[in-house]
Order: sequence, then structure tokens, then C-alpha cells
Amino acid sequence: MYDGDIASVLITEQQIGEKVAELAKQVADDYPENGTDLVLVGVLKGAVMFMTDFARALPVPVQLEFMAVSSYGSATSSSGVVRILKDLDRDIAGRDVVIVEDIIDSGLTLSWLLKNLASRNPKSLEVVTLLRKPDAVTVDVPVKYVGFEIPNEFVVGYGLDFAERYRDLPYIGTLDPKVYTS
Ligand code: XMP
Ligand code: MG
Repeated sequence: MYDGDIASVLITEQQIGEKVAELAKQVADDYPENGTDLVLVGVLKGAVMFMTDFARALPVPVQLEFMAVSSYGSATSSSGVVRILKDLDRDIAGRDVVIVEDIIDSGLTLSWLLKNLASRNPKSLEVVTLLRKPDAVTVDVPVKYVGFEIPNEFVVGYGLDFAERYRDLPYIGTLDPKVYTS
């Protein structure tokens, strides 16, 4: 599949699975069952694969919410100016909320999202991200749960796309430059 497009496999399917289980254990330890379900807020579309695996790995009850946002900027970097394309279906006031992100690059999108959700008065608000690019952090955002620190390279797979392709790969890899130059 996608023959020749992937330059290298950065994180294998097995490594992702192990990390998802590890993150789920950390989160479950921090949110003992108290009669109120945890609300996971997945950021479309990139976080979909992680969200569904993570929700199933968590041994505590969760409710699934999704938001779609678009950040103005180029295809591969964001500006921090964000527009809501799809909002939450439910009120999160008084709820324990965990934002589920695929990747944090500059952190601008997440910074905006944290402010936006915090203004809705959740009981608590944390972030879990599968990937973080530490070199590119220009905004200091508090992220409690981080899966993998990765180098500052464009990656695809496991939800992450280039021009809407490669989201369906079960692993995370780097793209061969010929893909964006052709
Ligand atoms: P910021 O810079 O606001 O951007 O943290 C986060 C969003 O940018 C996208 N992004 C990527 N998407 N491969 C992708 O497929 C990447 O390497 C990558 N880096 C950033 C992504 O939408 C993320 O939510
Ligand atoms: Mg995203």
C-alpha cells in the first residue's frame, strides 16, 4: 500500500499499541471512577485512530465528543487563528475533560482549544497527545500525557494525513519528498 511513498517507519503498529495501553493506564490512574464519566474530546480528523484505540484501552467509562477546527495557515503549519467547523454536541460544564490530540507541533491550535474549552467551565481539563514535536514549540501549553517525542519532520499515518491520504496506515512514517514535490 502506498508503495514507495513512505521514506521510513518512525513508529510501528506494535509500538503505538504499547504506548496507547501505557497512556490509558496513566489516565485511568488519575481518574478513578466516581460516577461521572470522563469526556474525551477528539480533534478531527487526525486524532480519530488514537481516540478510538485509546477509548477502548481505558478501563474507565468515557463519553466521546469530537471537535473539528481549522487553523488558518499553510497545509503543513498553523497560524494559531482557529475556526470551529464542528463544535461539541454536549455541555462540558462540571465534567472531567481530556482533549485527545494526534500531534502537537507549534502548539498554537491546542493553546486556542484549551482556552476555548476552559471557558465552558469543565471540572478539569487535561490533554493527551500521541505525538509531540518538541523543536517546534513556540507556545507553552500544559500537556500532561505525551506518547512520543518525535523529530521535527512531517509524519503521516495512524490518522495523520498529507492531502487527506495515508490516514489509514497502521503505523507512523515519514513521507518521501517526491510525494510533495510531484
Ligand atoms: P500546531 O502547530 O497548531 O498544529 O500544534 C497541530 C496540527 O498541525 C497538523 N500537523 C501535522 N499533520 N503530520 C500531519 O499529518 C505532521 O507531521 C504534522 N505536524 C502538524 C495536525 O493537524 C495537528 O493537529
Ligand atoms: Mg490535528
